[in-house]
Amino acid sequence: MSDDVAYNENWASIWEKFNSIRGRAAEADETAAFLERYCRGGSALELGIGDGRVAVPLSERGVRVEGIDNSDSMLNLHAKRTDVIKAWKADMANFTSEQRYNLVYCAYHTLMMLVTREAQISCLRSAAKALHDEGTLVIELPVPAIGDFVGGQKTTTTLVDHENTFVTADIHDPLSQNLVSTLLWFSGTSVRSLPGRARYVYHQELDTMAECVGLKLAERWGDWARGEFTEGSKRHISVYRRADL
Ligand SMILES: C[S@@+](CC[C@H](N)C(=O)[O-])C[C@H]1O[C@@H](n2cnc3c(N)ncnc32)[C@H](O)[C@@H]1O
Repeated sequence: MSDDVAYNENWASIWEKFNSIRGRAAEADETAAFLERYCRGGSALELGIGDGRVAVPLSERGVRVEGIDNSDSMLNLHAKRTDVIKAWKADMANFTSEQRYNLVYCAYHTLMMLVTREAQISCLRSAAKALHDEGTLVIELPVPAIGDFVGGQKTTTTLVDHENTFVTADIHDPLSQNLVSTLLWFSGTSVRSLPGRARYVYHQELDTMAECVGLKLAERWGDWARGEFTEGSKRHISVYRRADL
């Protein structure tokens, strides 16, 4: 098992708790409402579908949603949650789809989990091929917060309550734009360590990568409620369509 896959398998065990702490479970309906309008009553494919946090409410809005994920544990969580949404094991860095979709989307920081520029471009290329001619690609990414790092490192406390402490330690590798991190989860007398790696991308680099695969930026928002993207935004929701339309 590769390091990357091991990371995903570990995360599945704390996924629901972590999402509720981060407010990600609560915003899933808002995310689905945003995405629904690009489906035009048709179909959508989620890259890194996870437990169906977004796919389930999108499907409940009448969209035919499918998804891929490379983690058996996450796919198991997904299968426990719904049998309406088809989800299968595939690497989003290089996938082929017989079907074409109105919408392909990649939520949260999932694209960052591909840790090289080449893998990220390859993912966008696969996504572009999976779209109908007039289809839409939506990508959510955090705005990189590299300015918070001191001496190339950062420690963040996400939660402290009577039962749990979540502390994340990050090291910045500027040459590869990689963040190497470990989440330490202290609970009672136990501590669990969840290592990970991600490659951050600025929004303009994402536009350039999209252009490399024949897509162009159509819209950019600061959140799923269609708030403006500003210099204070912590993330962006970027919407791409085929450049030759
Ligand atoms: C941060 S979670 C997001 C899950 C879901 N998209 C959501 O918004 O709740 C990232 C998901 O992407 C999956 N993933 C990571 N790398 C992947 C890859 N190379 N191919 C397919 N799925 C991947 C993980 O297993 C995990 O389920």
